[in-house]
Amino acid sequence: MRSTQIRTTFTDFFTSRGHQQVPSSPLIPDDPTLLLANAGMNQFKPYFLGETTPPFPRATSIQKCARTSDIDNVGRTNRHATFFEMMGNFSFGDYFKEDAIAFAWELLTKGYGLEKDKLWITVFEDDDESEHLWRRIGVPASRIQRLGMEDNYWSMGVPGPCGPCSEVNYDRGPAFGKEGGPAIDGERYVEIWNLVFMQFQRGEGDKKGNFPILGELARKGVDTGLGLDRLAAILQDAQNVCTTDLLLPTFDSVQDLAGRACPAEGEEKVSFQVVTEHARSIAFLIADGVLPAKDGRGYILRRLMRRAIRHARCLGIDGPVLPATTASVIGNLSDVWPELTGQAALIEQVVTAEEESFTRTLAQGTRLLDAAITHTREKRSAALPGETAFELADTYGFPLELTVEAAREAGLTVDEERFAALLDGQKKRAKAGGKAKTAEALRKMDTYRELAARLPRTEFLGYEHLSAEATVTGLMSGGTVVPSAGAGAEVELVLDRSPFYAEAGGQIGDTGTLTTTDGTVLRITDTRYGLEGFRVHFAFVLEGELTTGATGEAQVDAERRAGLVRSHSATHILHAVVMATLGDHARQQGSLVEPDRLRFDFAHFTALTPDQLHHIEQAVNGHVLDDPKVTAWHADRAEAEAAGAIALFGEKYGERVRIVDIGDFSRELCGGTHVAHGSQVGTFSLLSESSIGSNLRRVEALTGHSALRHLDTERRLLGELASLLGTRPTEAPGALRKRLEALAAAQETLSRLRAEELRHQAGQLATQAQPVGQGQLVVRLVTGIAPDELRGLVADTLARLGRGPVVVVLGAEHKGKALLASAISSGLHQAGTQASRILAEAARTVGGGSGGRGPLASAGGRHPEALNQALEIAAYEATRLLSNG
Ligand code: SER
Repeated sequence: MRSTQIRTTFTDFFTSRGHQQVPSSPLIPDDPTLLLANAGMNQFKPYFLGETTPPFPRATSIQKCARTSDIDNVGRTNRHATFFEMMGNFSFGDYFKEDAIAFAWELLTKGYGLEKDKLWITVFEDDDESEHLWRRIGVPASRIQRLGMEDNYWSMGVPGPCGPCSEVNYDRGPAFGKEGGPAIDGERYVEIWNLVFMQFQRGEGDKKGNFPILGELARKGVDTGLGLDRLAAILQDAQNVCTTDLLLPTFDSVQDLAGRACPAEGEEKVSFQVVTEHARSIAFLIADGVLPAKDGRGYILRRLMRRAIRHARCLGIDGPVLPATTASVIGNLSDVWPELTGQAALIEQVVTAEEESFTRTLAQGTRLLDAAITHTREKRSAALPGETAFELADTYGFPLELTVEAAREAGLTVDEERFAALLDGQKKRAKAGGKAKTAEALRKMDTYRELAARLPRTEFLGYEHLSAEATVTGLMSGGTVVPSAGAGAEVELVLDRSPFYAEAGGQIGDTGTLTTTDGTVLRITDTRYGLEGFRVHFAFVLEGELTTGATGEAQVDAERRAGLVRSHSATHILHAVVMATLGDHARQQGSLVEPDRLRFDFAHFTALTPDQLHHIEQAVNGHVLDDPKVTAWHADRAEAEAAGAIALFGEKYGERVRIVDIGDFSRELCGGTHVAHGSQVGTFSLLSESSIGSNLRRVEALTGHSALRHLDTERRLLGELASLLGTRPTEAPGALRKRLEALAAAQETLSRLRAEELRHQAGQLATQAQPVGQGQLVVRLVTGIAPDELRGLVADTLARLGRGPVVVVLGAEHKGKALLASAISSGLHQAGTQASRILAEAARTVGGGSGGRGPLASAGGRHPEALNQALEIAAYEATRLLSNG
């Protein structure tokens, strides 16, 4: 089965079972606790935690994931990867273990046609319920194994959701290793699908990985992940993920570059596979906006690139390896992931630049490394000194793992302890006196000051132009002025004139490119004020060598800027409408203006009602449709204030100020960029309103394309709802109300019938009472009963047996658990007996405990199969009580 069909089979299966199909989130997550998206559930974390109401109770996605925790295994095993597509189904407070297990089993055995007896299951150590469910579905006990925290528990973020897992593994047969099931680690039993039963909220953990549970989740649910690579390997009978159709063209491109086929075994095979696998991660990371850097996610990308390059050199590929291999990834996967084509030029530029710069350091570093290896051997030592590894890392940017790998290939180890000590020492030194970052930051500020004093002020052209001829007047790297910077360098630039808007007044900075006349290409990643009035362009050299004095074409990303101006003008209109609606006190206290999205904070003392929000949204859209002219003019500050311009508290403006008017209803001091006419804002759609402090409210809204997409999603959801209800969207609320009423009536009837049934059952149980001593005893196993019903039933049965000494004990199985309840007559209770005494031993037998004082007691346990035995024990206790009594 081709991977395209594997994907559609998955999506079709879950959408036809009521799951909303959700696109993959980008690899850069919208979550500060996470560097890169590493699981399908990332984007749903707020739903599990109850921070946001999920717009649907179940979802399915195919998520792009990047993980480097197993990077050392890549190429060495058949199954590990640093990038993969994870297919998942999710429930937010909807279904739980039973359905999740049934779905997985049906899809694997029927949808994908996997042989049942090749599937092995693992469950969390104390999760009897899951084991019970798998056995009920037909998996024999011999193919179910229990694993602990390390393997079968998942958590994300702190605080974050967590819960036990159950995993499905596929037995690839004796050619892949020895027998024994997934509990023995290895190649034979491949973990393909992880079902996580999200149940708790976790707190901060210790170094050993233990963490406290803070409580139950607002929405208990399900998070699963089925690895596309691994399933494809099985369904395509490929030995390795590199030989599935997901990676084969890339694997071939590496073989082409090496001029030979990958051998069946050995270190060369590892290198072929590392280059293949990493090329895919690299292409996807860059496509989602990651650029190589010294730290953070940029460092992860840099490490992957450097590792791939080094392995390519081991294969004798001396020329560029990343451009061709990433191009093959784009060619092979862009049908499914169009962002690869969209960013193809950027990918090529970034990998080429990084490869050029790393090739230079690699040559120097390799010489150092080779010398160190020879020297170590001559000394007959088994370990490369930690100092060498540190120097390689510190000066040449060789990640420790690369050094360890190179040493391993030479039959040596690395003194990692010494390395860690050196690194630690460096960190401590850096920390001492709060220096390092501060020192760099201070140095940078000094540099800014020096440049600002020396250079003429940048002429800002961005109100009228998105591109302009500009000259680089200042160039910085690592906090100091440099004369030039080569491909792969991160730099900060000052230009004599610039169309790039620097972040201010809530509007974030522009991005774009700078192409100099001598062919140097830069990606401008942000624009900010280094000092007041001093504009700095943050950039990454993609191609060539940039020197101070170079001249070229500065070009702002036009589409992104169009989104920014829409949001900025919408913010002004919103401000005017909020004040007109709520009063003059409701002034802006802060804002964030992003492309097609805005956040607006204002003073107000209570939450806005739905009517007020509706009115505000309508009024903003009304103004937009009136198409007011947007004009900017300059004046003295006093003049502007006299003209009624709103100046925002805390923002600094010089004596000459810029005023932006929208129609005749909005006048603000503002340096931002705006639409020329109100209608260019497009659609305005309010998303949310919340409190962010005392007397401070926040609204978030979408404009332009984002607003349209949002409305479209809502329309589709309503359409789906209507079609489920078998009616038109306009009739849906009425139809749903009717159904809910009918349901409530049915539930009432049902509970009345159920109560009657239980009364009848109590009557029957009472007739089965046995005389014991002076009293009567009922001990019975009952079926199909819920916990609270069982308590009612014992009490009711007792009540029917009249005045004398009576004991009633009932047991039942409910959702894989044992339930017990007992009641004793009031005479026995007044004489000093507690009903829980009858259950104490019986409860232990079913693996639980009983407690409480009073004439009524209940207990539960994990072993329903021991219920009969437990009832016998309870009968014995009751008989003793009645005979003595
Ligand atoms: N979050 C789990 C995992 O990544 C299941 O999707 O394995």
